[in-house]
Amino acid sequence: MARLNVRAHGGDIYAAARELNRDPTEILDFSASINPLGPSSRVWKAITASRHLLSHYPDSNCWDLRQGLATFWRIHSEQIVVGNGSTELIDVLPRALGIHRLLVVQPTFSEYTAAMVRAGGQATALYADRSNQYAIPIAHLCRVMETGRSDGRPIDGVILCHPNSPTGQACSADDVARLATAARRRGLWLVIDEAFADYCPDRSVLPHAASWPGVVVLRSMTKFYALPGLRVGYAVATPTVIRRLRRQLPPWSISVMGQVAALAALNDAAHARKSLQFMARERERMRRLLTALPGCVVMPTYANYFLVELPRGRHAGDITEQLRSRGLLIRDCSSVPGTNSRSIRVAVRTVQENDRLIRTISRLLLQGVSR
Ligand SMILES: Cc1ncc(COP(=O)(O)O)c(C=O)c1O
Repeated sequence: MARLNVRAHGGDIYAAARELNRDPTEILDFSASINPLGPSSRVWKAITASRHLLSHYPDSNCWDLRQGLATFWRIHSEQIVVGNGSTELIDVLPRALGIHRLLVVQPTFSEYTAAMVRAGGQATALYADRSNQYAIPIAHLCRVMETGRSDGRPIDGVILCHPNSPTGQACSADDVARLATAARRRGLWLVIDEAFADYCPDRSVLPHAASWPGVVVLRSMTKFYALPGLRVGYAVATPTVIRRLRRQLPPWSISVMGQVAALAALNDAAHARKSLQFMARERERMRRLLTALPGCVVMPTYANYFLVELPRGRHAGDITEQLRSRGLLIRDCSSVPGTNSRSIRVAVRTVQENDRLIRTISRLLLQGVSR
């Protein structure tokens, strides 16, 4: 029988609330990794000030937001296209760029393969090594890209999740630049998903990569800017590539509120600084607490979540379900290709919330439920 806990994505507080007969706001969600400080207060003001626009279609060009992003990154607005979350952009990439066979580095975000399958293409994988704490295998990846083939068959694109989900690993911006060179030599597309890169700005290839031919960088307003409910993400590339992506997008896919909120969030540098400072502190505290759980192995991270391996004899699915029944959501990563059955991903939330999660996991581990 299929396990109940095999869920493609995190963040489904609605299903959990229905199961537990609770209000969605009572669910503590460690399964999606969203800035625990929440969105900038400027977002609420911008939404209120724009309520008269609700009776109009949104700007399908996302003009103001693209200007704001262009200023933020010091690039041209023609190098930016906005999507209904970066998920929408991931979805159109294979069709827009003509990618039929995409190389992914597992374990990683499942939407890359799902988008290829939806587009009638295929994903092929190389694996980061568990014994090397899932460090991104740059040298191996470069070698494979130089051959232009994987598993004996040609590839036409590579996607790198950077920092990677669920492992948290990232390499240097110089290493990513090496990949871009390898991709250019072979005429491969290189897509770099920087959905979590706000947490490690020195590892990002933006803004330089905006002019690299054959390279697309994806960014999300979901995680660091804490706007998952509004669905805003964007891609940065050369104007020619951006036009190809735009042609595949439906009109008006980014709502009025999504556009004004994203722009307001982007312009609040003080909230961004506060968020980074909080995360640096709390992530370190949480790492210590998780590491102190008997038998647990905690992977290094550059993002706002941890990949944790439970003690031997435990199954990620069991702990995930037990936490869920207590209103705490985490990611069961046991079915992510390349991980083992003890792998979970937990977001870093507020001090109090993190303490509650650690206490509950600690109790569950002591109770000794296993399979
Ligand atoms: C690595 C990664 N990229 C992209 C996304 C999509 O984010 P959004 O569509 O909310 O921008 C996610 C969501 O979980 C993710 O984990």
